[in-house]
Amino acid sequence: MDKFVVRGGNPLLGTIKVSGAKNSALPCMAAAILTEDELILENIPQVRDIETERKLLESMGGEVQLGYGRAQHRTHIRCAVLSDPVAKYEIVKTMRASSLVLGPLIARTGMARVAMPGGCAIGGRPIDLHLKALEAMGATITQDHGYLEARSPNNGASPLKAAHIVFDKITVTGTEDILMAAVLAEGETVLENCAREPEVTDLAALLLAMGAKIEGAGTSTVRVQGVTRLHGARHRINPDRIEAGTFLLAGAISGGDLIVDGCDPAHLGSLLSKLQECGVRLDVGTDHIRVRSDGQLKPADISTEEYPGFPTDMQAQFMALVTQADGTSVVTENIFENRFMHVQELNRMGANITVQGRTATIRGGAKLQSAAVMCSDLRASASLVLAALVAEGETILDRVYHIDRGYERIEEKLRGVGAQIRRMGDVFGKR
Ligand code: EPZ
Repeated sequence: MDKFVVRGGNPLLGTIKVSGAKNSALPCMAAAILTEDELILENIPQVRDIETERKLLESMGGEVQLGYGRAQHRTHIRCAVLSDPVAKYEIVKTMRASSLVLGPLIARTGMARVAMPGGCAIGGRPIDLHLKALEAMGATITQDHGYLEARSPNNGASPLKAAHIVFDKITVTGTEDILMAAVLAEGETVLENCAREPEVTDLAALLLAMGAKIEGAGTSTVRVQGVTRLHGARHRINPDRIEAGTFLLAGAISGGDLIVDGCDPAHLGSLLSKLQECGVRLDVGTDHIRVRSDGQLKPADISTEEYPGFPTDMQAQFMALVTQADGTSVVTENIFENRFMHVQELNRMGANITVQGRTATIRGGAKLQSAAVMCSDLRASASLVLAALVAEGETILDRVYHIDRGYERIEEKLRGVGAQIRRMGDVFGKR
């Protein structure tokens, strides 16, 4: 298993480029199931979850060409025939977002068999809301041997029926999954209490380009007029707002002067106002943000919420930042019940953080020291990289495959702006 070795102390200077959003790319790739024509997706990030999704689509009969390098992260996907509409456990267990194929599979083939996702490092993460919505659309769902089998009406022979669905709770992939089910359903589906994340809007833009009829994506009520067929399309994936946010915090925590280029500042509102509260200087352009800090940070409290609130996917990184603030900050995690696994590791590096239930109290000003630390999930790992950038000495991060799931060559990007970070391969393991 690869490790990162990070020597702290260098301010980050220069320009760092943002990749395409993993969490947009995953549902957009799943949307290829909805048509027998080719989809061309641009700005697909070169991360491990995308590779997993490729395997998933190929295992069902799809053809996927991931083009990196000179191909500019352009991907061609064609699901002309779906010979095996099954999301197998071997794939689902490594990536929960695999459940995103449920809606499009049943919409296209009338039948889907998807392994039930198990527990996850950050919480239970059930998909009951996806299933409830599909049932409201006439699907029959059964469970056997750890798999869910869903069929559209008439034992899979008739399309799903439009329905009026009010999600009990806001769910990002749930909204995306049901949106993809509704585009080929019979009649007008109304979805209420939808997620408003930019990733949902990005998926809807692709579906519109494929010939779907959707109104209101990006608001909490989405109306979908079902059509009988979708066609191929070309679509460019949004920049990754979480990667951009992580780099902004890297600039701020290192006392640097960094331009985060190729991002969409409109997607980063809640984070930018918190950074300003922390005393970080920001110059916001149309597609870039310059972040400057002299390392003197003020404390700030955050409470994670659905978009446009403060993203749970930035909580761990923000916590690393405020370990360096001059005072106490309070971080409340409202989306997932178990997303504080970075706390123990940050404390091992000398941070002073206590947790009670969903709330963490961070007494800032700790001088962080290097340590051997363990990555537990994607964003927790990113927070450890940020802490390592200011820690005294050489921090060794183990299990960086978690970072590779969602950050494209993060060590190369950070090294390009002055960080001392290198990847160390384990001769006995593989990436
Ligand atoms: C998406 O996960 C993201 N993943 C996550 O990104 C992100 O943390 C999360 O949204 C919240 O923003 C992708 O987009 C691929 P949810 P998702 O359904 O859709 C509960 C990252 O680091 N819930 O919005 O799985 C659930 O348990 C990650 O990139 C149900 O109870 O999250 C949670 O408490 C990790 N029943 C809350 O809703 C359901 O059927 C929100 O989850 C569905 C969800």
